[in-house]
Amino acid sequence: MERFAQLAAETLRSVLPLPQTLQVTDLEIPHDPQLGDFAFPCFKLAKQLRKSPPQIAQEIAQEIAQKLPRDEIGETLQVSAVGPYVNFTVPPRVALKSLLKDILSPDTSYGRLSPGSRGTWALEFSSPNVAKPLNIYHLRTTALGAALDRIGRFRGYTVVTLNHLGDWGKQYGMLTVAFRLFGKDQDSVLTMKDLVEMYVKINAMAETDPQIEIEAKQSFLKLEQGDPKITALWKKCVILSIQEFNRQYLRLGVHFDHFWGESFYKDQLAPLLQSLKEKNILIESEGAWIVPVQDEDDKELPPCILQKGDGATIYATRDVAAAIYRYEQFHFDRMTYIVGAEQRLHFKQVFAVLKKMGFAWASHCEHVPTGLYRFKDAKMSTRKGNFVTLEEVLELAKERAITLMTQRQKAAASSPQSPSGGPSSESSDAEQALIAEAVAVGAVVFHDLHTDPVRDVEFDIDRIVNFEGETGPYLQYAHTRCLSILRKAQETQQWTGPVTYNESAVSLLQAPEELNLVKTLGQFPLHLERTLTFAKASQLAHYLLDVTRIFGSFYRECQVLGNPPELTHARLMLVEATRRILGTGLNLLGIPLPERM
Ligand code: ARG
Repeated sequence: MERFAQLAAETLRSVLPLPQTLQVTDLEIPHDPQLGDFAFPCFKLAKQLRKSPPQIAQEIAQEIAQKLPRDEIGETLQVSAVGPYVNFTVPPRVALKSLLKDILSPDTSYGRLSPGSRGTWALEFSSPNVAKPLNIYHLRTTALGAALDRIGRFRGYTVVTLNHLGDWGKQYGMLTVAFRLFGKDQDSVLTMKDLVEMYVKINAMAETDPQIEIEAKQSFLKLEQGDPKITALWKKCVILSIQEFNRQYLRLGVHFDHFWGESFYKDQLAPLLQSLKEKNILIESEGAWIVPVQDEDDKELPPCILQKGDGATIYATRDVAAAIYRYEQFHFDRMTYIVGAEQRLHFKQVFAVLKKMGFAWASHCEHVPTGLYRFKDAKMSTRKGNFVTLEEVLELAKERAITLMTQRQKAAASSPQSPSGGPSSESSDAEQALIAEAVAVGAVVFHDLHTDPVRDVEFDIDRIVNFEGETGPYLQYAHTRCLSILRKAQETQQWTGPVTYNESAVSLLQAPEELNLVKTLGQFPLHLERTLTFAKASQLAHYLLDVTRIFGSFYRECQVLGNPPELTHARLMLVEATRRILGTGLNLLGIPLPERM
């Protein structure tokens, strides 16, 4: 489909009355396939051309038809104006043949671009603060970042993943005070839980005892000066935290190339401030050092403070240093920070400082804001200690998965016909536990990713861990169903070996559900591209739900097995193509794929 979309974009570019850079991602994918495979909306042109969008659509469609009458257009694309849209449709026969052939290609995954063909993408995500476990809201940035990493690499980018750990600041001074007060030292055997308890307790004590704040400040100062004893305590906390984070990252299949926390940049701050002062970019204001900044529309923003009155640097100082260092290391073409929406202003300020410093690449930096988790009751205030950890949520999901699977097994045992792909009674406890883990991770991660990143996730475990509805397990199950149909084809000797493309079998695919399925599968690369452009995995997640729904109606309407051999083959091609797209798509999202459920 991507080739066709490119053809549509090129054709549009050749006739468009206005010079503009038209990308494939500027084409929309109509929800109703009857309307076409891609559509170009004419709303934006209306103002410049002083014509109504439907009129513009008419004119563009006509011009395309005239200009390229005997060209590829018409053979490979049909063009028409529908209301304010110019619609493009790939003719059914062309679509069936060329899409199925590509999807079933034995050598490569459909939609994959050669590695390293598209520049470097620095992708920062997760970035938790140390001495606290991963909170469920960290899943917003972690799941999205990991998905973009996988999809980016699949689509030819060189992706560098970065974890900007919060490991520097006064609060870590506070933790070293806790070590002293609670009689711990660098050799004490501590777990993450101990650290959290110490942290919560010391913060509570500090609310009534101002002396603790003061000592924490001094302690952090000592840390900044490299005091060996304080540094050893701090390091202990950081290492313990990273070990704990890695345990969760492993569970989710998340990988970081670099754990460069805030402390990593500490020696780069003084020279940075010095040079900014020399260039008069950093100016003194009421004792502090600030950079006056504007946003992209030249609107004044609150100034970016880089050095406080007492000489201390802040979070923003380290972000400016980090961005420069990362550019020096990677010469990235794009740098994305996936961070909570509450830090919007912070990133605007940081990018504006970089721009003021004359870095052209500052315009390639973007903040992707993420929302929170909303629970029915529990509030998620980390400070007071009543936070909901990621691990807790995954365990809860796993318990529910086991309950559901047991119920399904009982139901299957009492009904004479076990549904294909359904729970198998032979599977061992160990296998059950693995499946439950896959279902739990799949359910929680999918639910997060299918919510638009900037919106809050509504958390309701019963809805999330469910084999019905728009859930991860629903998609995992659809994938196992494809596998079980293919297995059954082998067992009944209706097919042997991998299902390969066969041109003459294609002509037997006549049902509208079959065409609809192939066209939808063919859109896979377009949705991957949109996912990357908009940095929203929800794009891919919703597409996979569509695939599953459309596969469902194909499966209901068209019997796959037990037909004359060539028709069985033709339909098995569709099952295999669906399995491939679902499998690849879910993998890219980080959803594990059990073979049976
Ligand atoms: N550690 C920060 C927090 O938990 C997020 C860091 C975001 N990344 C950055 N480069 N500032 O709020």
